[in-house]
Amino acid sequence: MNPKKIMILCGSPRPKGNTHTLADWAAEGAKSAGTEVEKVDLTRLRYASHGCTSCYGCQKLKEYRCVLKDEASELLARIPGFDALVIATPVYFLGPSAQIKVLLDRGYSLFKFNLETGAVSTALKGTAIAVIASAGADVSQGLKAVEDTYRALASFTGGSFSSLLVPQAPHETGGLSNNSAMREKAVAFGRKLASSL
Ligand SMILES: Cc1cc2nc3c(=O)[nH]c(=O)nc-3n(C[C@H](O)[C@H](O)[C@H](O)COP(=O)(O)O)c2cc1C
Repeated sequence: MNPKKIMILCGSPRPKGNTHTLADWAAEGAKSAGTEVEKVDLTRLRYASHGCTSCYGCQKLKEYRCVLKDEASELLARIPGFDALVIATPVYFLGPSAQIKVLLDRGYSLFKFNLETGAVSTALKGTAIAVIASAGADVSQGLKAVEDTYRALASFTGGSFSSLLVPQAPHETGGLSNNSAMREKAVAFGRKLASSL
């Protein structure tokens, strides 16, 4: 049997910051459970546009694809090939970072919305959704909003939802890296996600 696959989207500009640290630990746990993991640093993607252009071109296609021609479209088209999608983000201004939003707004292309009947179909059917998010403040200052947003995504995909929320995270780069309790928690999170697929 082919191994299950997890894609982790990392939306922090700090390569050694909390988001990447937590994502790497979760990836380690998932790999230890026999899952393939691909981690994507969204700050390295080349975009043809600052965001979705609201052209609705994706809704006119048979396939689930964004019509813009750039690396974001290529990445989005590959996501349905994964069993789980992990959204790893710092909380910025009470929500996910722009790096996450600029990609996932175009995740609209992975859905077909029938605006007359209200019917929705998606290439993400059955995809498990997980969130890894850290913040400087407590859960009410953005972490809960991030969690709620992507829990709603999971209700569209019909897949499971899980989250690892880290409030009061240290602000300095690398501040989490020596936190062995947090490491253990994040590794276990990744392992549990992988085992659930
Ligand atoms: C531009 C910016 C906006 C932020 N906004 C919030 C916020 O609204 N709420 C919060 O609790 N923390 C906020 N923070 C703190 C970060 O979420 C926190 O430091 C996070 O762990 C950083 O992750 P990173 O190391 O991966 O970049 C903000 C930080 C920055 C740089």
